Amino acid sequence: MRISETQIEQIRTSADIVDVISNSVQLRKRGNNYIGLCPFHSEKTPSFTVSQDKQIFHCFGCHAGGNVFKFLMEYKKISFVESVQEIAADLGITIEYENQRSEAEQSETEILFDINTSVAKFFSDNLLKEEEGNIARKYFEDRKIKPQTLRAFGLGYCPDHWDSTVNFLNKNNIALEKALELGVIGKSEKGKLYDKFSGRMIFPIFSPNGRVIGFGGRIFDSREGAAKYLNSPESKVYHKGRTLYGLSHGKDEIRRQDLAIVVEGYMDLISLHQHGIKNVVAVSGTAFTDEQVQLLSRYTKNTVLLFDADTAGVKASMRSIEILLKQNMNIKIATLPRGEDPDSYVQKNGSDAFLDIIARAVNFLEYRTAIFEEQGYFNDAAKSAEAIRELVKPVALLNDELKRSFLLKSIAEKFGLREKLLEAELEKAIAGTNKFAVQEQNQKEKIQQKEIAEAVEAKMLPAEFRNEQEIIILLFEGHEQITRYLLDHVNPDEFQIPYHKTLAQLVYDALINDEPLEISRLLEKIKDEKLQEYLLEITFEKYLISDLWDQRKPENKEKRFLKYASDLIKSFKLYHLEKEIAENHSLLEKAEDEEAALELMKKGNLLHSKKKEIEKGNY
Ligand code: CTP
Ligand code: MN
Repeated sequence: MRISETQIEQIRTSADIVDVISNSVQLRKRGNNYIGLCPFHSEKTPSFTVSQDKQIFHCFGCHAGGNVFKFLMEYKKISFVESVQEIAADLGITIEYENQRSEAEQSETEILFDINTSVAKFFSDNLLKEEEGNIARKYFEDRKIKPQTLRAFGLGYCPDHWDSTVNFLNKNNIALEKALELGVIGKSEKGKLYDKFSGRMIFPIFSPNGRVIGFGGRIFDSREGAAKYLNSPESKVYHKGRTLYGLSHGKDEIRRQDLAIVVEGYMDLISLHQHGIKNVVAVSGTAFTDEQVQLLSRYTKNTVLLFDADTAGVKASMRSIEILLKQNMNIKIATLPRGEDPDSYVQKNGSDAFLDIIARAVNFLEYRTAIFEEQGYFNDAAKSAEAIRELVKPVALLNDELKRSFLLKSIAEKFGLREKLLEAELEKAIAGTNKFAVQEQNQKEKIQQKEIAEAVEAKMLPAEFRNEQEIIILLFEGHEQITRYLLDHVNPDEFQIPYHKTLAQLVYDALINDEPLEISRLLEKIKDEKLQEYLLEITFEKYLISDLWDQRKPENKEKRFLKYASDLIKSFKLYHLEKEIAENHSLLEKAEDEEAALELMKKGNLLHSKKKEIEKGNY
């Protein structure tokens, strides 16, 4: 007898931990929490603490702690299921049990991930091992894709019958309705199940952590009429607007080079990888979404957009530019010769020629100006004014005043205009387009200004341990906006302490899978008892401080949280940078030959200017 994850969730959120614990322990309100004498060890002064907000308990004396289920399990010495049953009975919730054992053991999303993985393996086996895959093997061979690349990207083939996938699912007892949900099979009006991807080459789509979340299927050239690419529909595990193809394969290199090359297609990315260019993501033929930019900005702020030179490509890049600018990304645009895409270009000309194209990327003003020039805008006075207005518009999207005035200056110089004139244009653009967003940005700027003064203070804290810990505590506040903000700026891998890495990863996974962020729920996902204890300990310790915060006006609290988060990020970044600077410095002292010394000096200067940027609030 199993209880489904959703039902457990429902029971957990309906229960109140203070009510449940009060049945056995005398509690007294203290600040935001309740305290009492610990039922798990004997004590004379209360160190047993319960948080109603967070629905967790913790004893500072014996380190017992957890959510409402954990309390009953320990107090009554019963199993998890029994504790769920008991609370459900108290609340008058009738449990509907699931009969399929293996299903109940996993969470809903885990099941979907597993199905995707099995199906991906099925497709890949067809391509690599089966007779039927000959035609697809030949196709990739013609496109110069090596077998090791096929394997690295898990590429596959879905045989050209209407029911190979259906049969595979049946043979392996995989739930058909789940496969339908994932869109690997479809159902006809008459109720017949059929393969969605039959006769297509398969490109599995991965989450940033490398799990299969969906598929893209490409038709052979010969089959006209049907869409060239067919992609999995949105599902619980696949959100197109939140996915960047190839991120899991390229993220390390993107971080290392602090640069992401953005291409359009699956094949472009794969081909570049095969040529050793791995700091790439693909947007899959559409413009960037805000969420994709947020995701990417966790790895780098620097992008080179590489879109086809055709009109659709230009349009897509314009839209992408706006979205990237709004989020303060640094962008350059590279252009390929007409009729080429990154795949064809690198295959023909090799990686050096390709990297040359990247090195020649221009900023968005130069890019747009060139297009206006090409279209003859500057031959006509009226059209020329229109072009200049258009050029000013995206400048309004930047929330960095310095960058804005720099760009205005460069437009003024380029066209021999007075800067004041352009400033007036800019004002209009700001007023016209996104008043609200800009106001918000200005506010943010002001907050950051104040931080500069406070940074001096912040640096005096023992940065490494404390700072990381504070970020973790804040991640578990269950405040989505702040969690997003933090994880946009810091990667779980960047934490020095392994516990922190694990905890940050847990929150990150919940966030990208759209799962609730409450600590009382996340605790259950932590298998390591010591780690659970640690998390509870730091959460409750923090509570003593946040009690004070909560006594302020509520609107104040929100602001303070955000400001606090950005302060934390800043000292985190500064700390790491300073460490790098120190390392670089000691290498420089030891450097033997002049050339190496020069390189280290250059690097040192770069690190220093990065540091300045962060101090100014650009991170
Ligand atoms: N795309 C899509 N659906 C389509 C066409 C395109 O999702 N009907 C997406 C795919 O992610 C594709 C990208 O847009 O990779 C770029 O499309 P396109 O340039 O037409 O294809 P290529 O990637 O160049 O593919 P190929 O080289 O195999 O022709
Ligand atoms: Mn192509």
